[in-house]
Amino acid sequence: MSARARSQQRAIGARSEVQPKAEKLELLDTAFELTEFRSFADLGACWGVDGAYTFHAAELCGNELERAVIVDGHLTPLTRERAKEVPNVELVQALLGSDEALDEVGKVDALIMYDILLHQVKPDWDRFLLNWLPHTDALIIFNQNWLKTPRTIRFVDRGLDWYYENVYVWEDDWNTRDRLESWFKRHNERDADGRLERDNHWYWQFGIRPLELVGLLARNGFELVYMKRHRHAFGRSRPWIVNDGLIFQRAAYPELGAGGRLRAAARSLAKRTGLLERLRRP
Ligand SMILES: C[S@@+](CC[C@H](N)C(=O)[O-])C[C@H]1O[C@@H](n2cnc3c(N)ncnc32)[C@H](O)[C@@H]1O
Repeated sequence: MSARARSQQRAIGARSEVQPKAEKLELLDTAFELTEFRSFADLGACWGVDGAYTFHAAELCGNELERAVIVDGHLTPLTRERAKEVPNVELVQALLGSDEALDEVGKVDALIMYDILLHQVKPDWDRFLLNWLPHTDALIIFNQNWLKTPRTIRFVDRGLDWYYENVYVWEDDWNTRDRLESWFKRHNERDADGRLERDNHWYWQFGIRPLELVGLLARNGFELVYMKRHRHAFGRSRPWIVNDGLIFQRAAYPELGAGGRLRAAARSLAKRTGLLERLRRP
């Protein structure tokens, strides 16, 4: 981790419940170098970290920061307090997939999507991404990607026991089996916004296969320019869940058709995860 990222981690995390993660700060450093963003929106910036990644990205831009937009369904008090101290930071309290969020953000150089993609239902994660693409030229994604099944799946479709065995990564005072059971029992109830509890974005909803994510974006003109995988992010008992940091940029493989972009994306992903090397080994 760079010295700057280290001191940011200490300073920004000082009063928050969750310390900013070094790998997420570093991903921002790399994205800043690669894409030279000067405006960005941080979608789902608040829980636990109170906008830490926004303020780190703003610091990277320094005096050249044009706009930083924090979007969240719940803007925490500390996020609001910090935003007052940094010029050009805007706050939007809205559902991340709503027209209101899309309109308020408008066009920015980069979108930060940290720990939010697998939570998105209606619009589901893939439609959610497509809706946001016209609003940016770069995506900085950190997602709990899924390797256990050959295709992307919706977790709740598999039932409570399966969810508990395969997906539920925390067992602590708050995240108990009872709590999970109670959520499953309430699946057909509606929340204050009229949405079904089953679709609640506070729970993990989709197991997203990384190649499907990369393929979707390649087919829609976004090239994977950087990827770092953090294995065993949730312990050795859940090796099928990996934290992937990914950076995509617009105008990928402009000379190729959709098939070519997809093959190039698959090659690029295989190379970055070491799969290509393993396949080639006699
Ligand atoms: C798991 S936290 C991640 C926080 C931070 N980005 C990080 O990486 O530590 C998800 C955040 O996104 C917000 N969020 C996720 N999905 C949302 C949605 N569909 N509408 C509104 N807010 C959402 C939650 O309120 C929460 O603040």
